[in-house]
Order: sequence, then structure tokens, then C-alpha cells
Amino acid sequence: MKVLVVGSGGREHALAWKLARSPRVRTVFVAPGNGGTATEPGVRNVPLTDLHALADFARAEDIGLTVVGPEAPLAAGIVDLFQARGLRIFGPTRAAAQLESSKAFAKDFMQRHRIPTARHASFTDAAAAHAHVREHGAPIVVKADGLAAGKGVVVAMTADEAHAAIDDMLAANTLGVQHNAGGSRVVIEEFMAGEEASFIVASDGTHVVALATSQDHKRIFDGDRGPNTGGMGAYSPAPVVTPNVHARVMREIVDPTIAGMRAEGTPFTGFLYAGLMIDAQGRPRTVEFNARLGDPEAEVLLMRLESDLLDLLLAATEGRLDEVELRWDRRYALGVVMAAHGYPSSPRKGDAITGLPAPDAPPHDGHVFHAGTVRAEDGTLRASGGRVLCVTALGESARLARQRAYELLQPVEFEGAQWRRDIGHRAIEPR
Ligand code: AMP
Ligand code: GLY
Repeated sequence: MKVLVVGSGGREHALAWKLARSPRVRTVFVAPGNGGTATEPGVRNVPLTDLHALADFARAEDIGLTVVGPEAPLAAGIVDLFQARGLRIFGPTRAAAQLESSKAFAKDFMQRHRIPTARHASFTDAAAAHAHVREHGAPIVVKADGLAAGKGVVVAMTADEAHAAIDDMLAANTLGVQHNAGGSRVVIEEFMAGEEASFIVASDGTHVVALATSQDHKRIFDGDRGPNTGGMGAYSPAPVVTPNVHARVMREIVDPTIAGMRAEGTPFTGFLYAGLMIDAQGRPRTVEFNARLGDPEAEVLLMRLESDLLDLLLAATEGRLDEVELRWDRRYALGVVMAAHGYPSSPRKGDAITGLPAPDAPPHDGHVFHAGTVRAEDGTLRASGGRVLCVTALGESARLARQRAYELLQPVEFEGAQWRRDIGHRAIEPR
């Protein structure tokens, strides 16, 4: 079978790499792909991003399955379009993807279905939003409603920060967030204390298969300081998700979400990612939903997945996920993101990258997934986006996986590269 992966990041490189290892897969096309998918064995890039052009390509090439990495094409309705044209695709429809694309939709949905999350209120009027902050005080969280690549959230430790965030998001819209119909809107939330984890499941609209647990590091600097990013590294499993927490997440969050979406006529088919906040008592609450795999969570999860990914995705598109049980490498996987100079505010493009291992070089306990890279005309590999590489490795413990990942990273160089030295610290240092 020929398969198509839509997207160009580290997550899509990991999806393509894993699918290329499936015995039933002949070729994996990645649209548009990156400098890593360009040279990955069994994988080919296709320079397409337009949704209709992708559907035409899938039809012409007789693609047996398309899987979508990022949120933007999902929110733009790629799944609806492919399905209308009789093409097999794994991902949520545009209506179901609102769990991610509209924070207000997600919060109202959670309220309707009693899914634990922070209390919230939505505002389009700045004066009313300011009054809400005066009434509730800090710490408090201000979020832009719409896709903001993880940057539309201010966790305000003081009321002044919250007021400034409201002015930025509602009045000036300095983030340039792509708002949903109805103009700019903010969601103001109760601050939740605890430890975060990423809980990702595959759903066929009715049944659910949980992937392994993971945790990412959202802040740019060591010690979880500095601005939020898309994720500077990840590891799996996440020790904070104990068997008891896992059972509660399934019962209190995942199952009611899948049942609720189905009951409302917008069944959720695809990867559902619940960003969790787990408090000191082990009570999980939902920070946010994403309608896709996480990045860099996908890189560490797919390193650990022993089962055939194609089998999982085909079963999911046929409503047969109740038949699937996944096998995982019992080792830890840990990935360190190398980001471009100036990331996250103004990443520099064009820096030449050296020191990478060949894509199929042994040993096989590590892999460098590419995110923002391109192969230039002269054959050199260059940075082309904020997150450039995700250097990922397996190890018997979180500590050993970390050691291996940093060993792999050591020879890799590009001007201005930024990476954290403490990925996995919560799984390694005693809590
Ligand atoms: P989001 O884009 O909604 O995932 O938010 C980005 C980050 O902001 C999360 O990963 C959390 O670290 C933090 N955050 C968001 N909402 C809350 C909340 N209600 N309480 C505490 N931290 C939050
Ligand atoms: N790593 C967080 C995300 O993919 O949203």
C-alpha cells in the first residue's frame, strides 16, 4: 500500500519513519515533508500543501491511507474533503477538530459533559474581561481563542500581567492569532497547580486505544523558564501517570469526550490528545485538547511503539479499534529538540547543519527526526523553521535514555542552535 502523511515537522518525520517500517507499506509520501523525510529510506516528499491538490494526488497515486499530522489542515476540513471524495484518511473532521481549534468550544463541551477542567469564562468585550480579573485576582490564565501554536496563552502570576494580556489579545491582537468567526475572543481560566502530562489516544469515533503516556517541556529554557514554545523535548512514559491516574483519565476525561462527541453528532475519529494537569492528590484535569498527535510527543511514542502503525490506522478508519492492542518497548524514549537561533519569537532560517548520522546508520536505539530542515540546491542541509531537529533515543531508564540522546546530539551543529540540557528532569530527579 502507498500511504500519505500530511505535514512537515518532526511528528510527520516520525510518522513516516514508522510507517515505512510496516511490511505492507510500499512507499510513504510526505507532503510537503522536510530535509529529513527527503532522505529517509522508503519515504518520498511531495511538494503539495493545497488540500484539493492533495486529494487529487491521493486519487492519482492510488494512496490507500492518508494520515494528517498538524492541526491547520484538520481545522480547514481536509478530512471532510477526502471523505467526500471517497479517499481513506485518518483524522477528525473539521467539526470534531473544534476540540482544538476553538478553546471556547472545548471549554463549553467539557462543561456540558462534566469533564474535569479549570473553571472559565469567555469574553469579547475587554472591559468585562478586565472586571473579571479584578473580581478573581491572580494567578489566573488568559487565552486567545483560536489556533496560536501554543503561544496564545498567558499564565499570569499577577493581575497586571492578566490585564496586559487582555489588552494584547482583544484590543491589539499582537499575536496575530487566526480567530474563529465572530472576531477576537479570550477565555479566562482558573489557574490549576500540578504536573502536566500528555495523554494521547486513537479513536474510531466509538472505541479508543490509549497510546503510551508522555510529557513534554513547553518552556524554552532549562528549569521550565522563559516563553512557551511548541515543545523543547519529551519523554515516554510519564511516571506521574500512575495506573490509578490512568484509569481516572480514561473514565473521567477520555471516555466521556468520545461518547459526548458521538452523541452530539460529531464523532471524533483521529488522535485525541488531552493535555492534563495532575494535582498532588492524583486528580487529573484537562488543560486543553488537541485533535492530533503532539510534537515532540509523537517522536518518543513512535520510537517505543512495537506494533504496526498501519494496522492501527486502518483499524481506526474501519471502526475496529476494539480489536487492537498495542505493544510498546518497555524502555524509556527521550527526545531533545534543537531549535533555531531566535526561536520562539523570530527563528532564523538558513543555518547549515552538520554532524548528523546517516538515516539508516546503526545502532538503532536512536534516531534524529527532522522538523524545520530543508535540503538546499547544493545538497547542504539547512535550518528552515523554529524547531529544527528532535534527537531521540531509547534507554533502560529515563536517565539512560537521556544520556543516549545527548550523546547522539553532541556532534550535531548549527549556528545559534538552542536546546535544553534538562529534558526528562521530572522523570529522573526524585519528586
Ligand atoms: P494551552 O495552550 O492551553 O495548552 O496552554 C499552554 C500552557 O499554559 C499549558 O501547557 C500549561 O502549562 C499552561 N496552562 C494553560 N492553562 C492553564 C491553567 N488553567 N492553569 C495552569 N496552567 C495552565
Ligand atoms: N507538544 C505539545 C503539542 O504538540 O501541542
